[in-house]
Amino acid sequence: MQQFRIAVIPGDGVGKEVIPVGQRVLEAAVAQEAQLDWHLFPWGSDFYRQTGALMPPDGVEQLRRFDAIYFGAVGDPPHVPDHVTLWGLLLPIRKQLDLFVNVRPIRLFPGIRGPLRDKGPEDIDMIFVRENTEGEYAGVGGRVHVGTPHEVALETSVFSRFNVERVVRFAFELARSRRKHLTSITKSNAQRFGMVLWDEIVQEVARDYPDVTVTSLLVDAAAALMVRAPERFDVAVGSNLFADILTDLGAALMGSLGLAPSANLAAAPGVPSLFEPVHGSAPDIAGRGIANPIGTVWAGAMMLEHLGLTDAARRILRAIERLTNEGKVLTPDLGGTATTEQVGKRIIELLDA
Ligand code: NAD
Ligand code: IPM
Ligand code: MN
Repeated sequence: MQQFRIAVIPGDGVGKEVIPVGQRVLEAAVAQEAQLDWHLFPWGSDFYRQTGALMPPDGVEQLRRFDAIYFGAVGDPPHVPDHVTLWGLLLPIRKQLDLFVNVRPIRLFPGIRGPLRDKGPEDIDMIFVRENTEGEYAGVGGRVHVGTPHEVALETSVFSRFNVERVVRFAFELARSRRKHLTSITKSNAQRFGMVLWDEIVQEVARDYPDVTVTSLLVDAAAALMVRAPERFDVAVGSNLFADILTDLGAALMGSLGLAPSANLAAAPGVPSLFEPVHGSAPDIAGRGIANPIGTVWAGAMMLEHLGLTDAARRILRAIERLTNEGKVLTPDLGGTATTEQVGKRIIELLDA
């Protein structure tokens, strides 16, 4: 039997509630086909309170030994500043493991009523490819004259040809495997350096993909179009920040932030990729057992697919579709009364239905 070593970082808030449910669904789905060896890392804000850091100094090195990473969410506002939690755990993992793209599918499941009254599952089916290691999240900047009326803060975006090109190429490949339409999202009217480089690279790489139609949109117009005509999107590629914002919008189009998954893929072979829901630690509902686990379960299915367990991944997706279609066991964000645990249990029942 195949064995996989998986690092599990539930993190904070609802991360701790949805991850165990995800683990149980994945266990049930792989059954006899593979063995998942979970290694739990209790990193996050509690760890920070105990040790003064979100993870140990060699944390990222510890993760390298695994086949994949299953991540919940971090963030414990107002107790720990958000930039401390995120720059202490998730962002260094993405950067240091060179998880160069963040793949975020957005689709309306059968039976779910999204916020767009005229749009059904056939209209909302897109995948975002988010640049994941630099751009607006480069971490380059600083503050001078702190606390004085002359204070200035710089937050510098970084776009390197090597990185943008590999992200854009990944997006073209994905578009080629789907409906052969790529939307590239920039803001090259106001931002005349990095965004212009991005547009140029898209045009260059497009020459290698004559079968893929490319549309370039400015990010503000893209946001409006996602709401007005989501059917125009197949694969979309965007910078770290723009695609962060637009994928929360996409999750809203799906009916809930709790439904959206993401795969942070490693550029180098042998380095673990990281799979997580798009949402955060949701402090407003944490501790009540009502967080929607579907985004985390779906992220787990993406992890199984990445590990080559495609049949188990497909069965999980089908079980989620059956669950939404029957519409009986749903969490409050989708208008139901079920708990996180009950949704997980029903997904497991539906795996073989
Ligand atoms: P959030 O995604 O945690 O929550 C936004 C809204 O969506 C809230 O109303 C929440 O209740 C709801 N929601 C989120 N997940 C849900 C789920 N599974 N089921 C039902 N409803 C759900 O975003 P936020 O409130 O802006 O951030 C809270 C904390 O999480 C902050 O510290 C933030 O920095 C952090 N954060 C972490 C990650 C991550 O670790 N990947 C992602 C986003 C935000
Ligand atoms: C996400 C989150 C993170 C991001 C935050 C918490 C740093 O919003 O994964 O979408 O912006 O990457
Ligand atoms: Mn986000």
